Amino acid sequence: MKRIGILTRDCAGINACIRAIVRTADSYGIETVGIFRGYEGLINGETKVFDRRAVSGIINSGGTILKTARSKRFMTEEGQLKALQTIKDNNLDGLIVVGGNGSLTAAHLLASKYGVKVIGVPATIDNDVNGVDLSVGADTAVNVALDALDKIRDTADSLERIFVVEVMGRDCGYIALRVALSGGCEEVIVPERDYDINEICEEITEGNIRGKISWIIIVAEGKAKAADVAAKITQITELETRVVVLGHIQRGGRPTAFDRTLAARYGNTAVEMLKDGQTDKCIALRNMEVVMLPLEEAIKPKDIEVETFYRLIKTLT
Ligand code: F6P
Repeated sequence: MKRIGILTRDCAGINACIRAIVRTADSYGIETVGIFRGYEGLINGETKVFDRRAVSGIINSGGTILKTARSKRFMTEEGQLKALQTIKDNNLDGLIVVGGNGSLTAAHLLASKYGVKVIGVPATIDNDVNGVDLSVGADTAVNVALDALDKIRDTADSLERIFVVEVMGRDCGYIALRVALSGGCEEVIVPERDYDINEICEEITEGNIRGKISWIIIVAEGKAKAADVAAKITQITELETRVVVLGHIQRGGRPTAFDRTLAARYGNTAVEMLKDGQTDKCIALRNMEVVMLPLEEAIKPKDIEVETFYRLIKTLT
C-alpha cells in the first residue's frame, strides 16, 4: 500500500482525525492524499498530497481543513464513475471516509459496487452510526450545548421562566438526552419516544402550584420544533415561555479531550486496517475498545437506550 485518500464531513475532532491518519500513514511510508469538499471533490478531482507538516497545528481546531460539501452528483452512476476516475488518477490504494451516516453509506457503495478498498470512521454530532458507542464530534456537541444551557439556566432561574431549547441530532435523540441529563432539565422530547404535551403541561401546572416556576425543556430537532412546543405550553398553561434554537454552534468549536483522543485512536486504526487489507468496514468504539464492524451494519438505523436515560432524567429532576 503506497497511497491512500481521505475525505471528510465536518464536526469537531475531524482535524485531529486527519492528523492521526496522515501521521500514521507516514510512519508506514504511505502517502496520504487529501480530497477536498467530500464526494463533490472526489468527483471533481480536487486533491492534494498531505505530508506530516501539512497537518501541524490543527489538533485543536473545529471543522475540517479539507472543507466539505453535500454531493447530489455522487447519487448518480455518472458521478460515481467520475469519483472512481479520481481514485485511479491519484493511484489511491485505499480510501478513508470520515463522516456520518450519509458519508458511510456512500463509502459502502464504493466498496461493495466498485471494489474500492474503503474504511469508514464515524464522525457526526448526531451519534447515529449503528453499532458505534460514540462517533467523533458527539462529545463536543453535547458539551457545547451544555455550556449554552448552563447560561440559559441562569436566566431561567432568575426570572422563573420556562425555556424550550432545541438541539440538533437529525433523527437521533442522543444530544438531547445527554444534554437534558447533564443539564438537569425537567423534560426532554426525542424522536425515539412519543410525548404528550398535555401531560407535560399538567406537570408544569402542578409544579407551579408547589412553587416551581422555572423549567427547561429540551427538544430534539427530529421530533418537533421548539417554537411549536413553547406555543402549545403557553396556550395550555397560560405561562410565558422563551425559545432558544442552538443550531450549528453544536457542530463547531474546539474538540474536547475525549473527541481528540477518539479521533486519534480511530484515525490510527483506520490506516492499520487498510494496511492489513481490510475493506468495507467501519471503526467503532464499543465498551471503550476500538473494534470494527461491516459498513453495511454501521449504516443501519441505530437504537439508542432512550428509556433508561429518559427514566433517569425524570427521576433526578
Ligand atoms: O448531521 C449533522 C447535522 O448537524 C444534523 O444534526 C442537522 O440536522 C444537519 O446536520 C444540518 O445540516 P445542514 O448543515 O446541511 O443544515
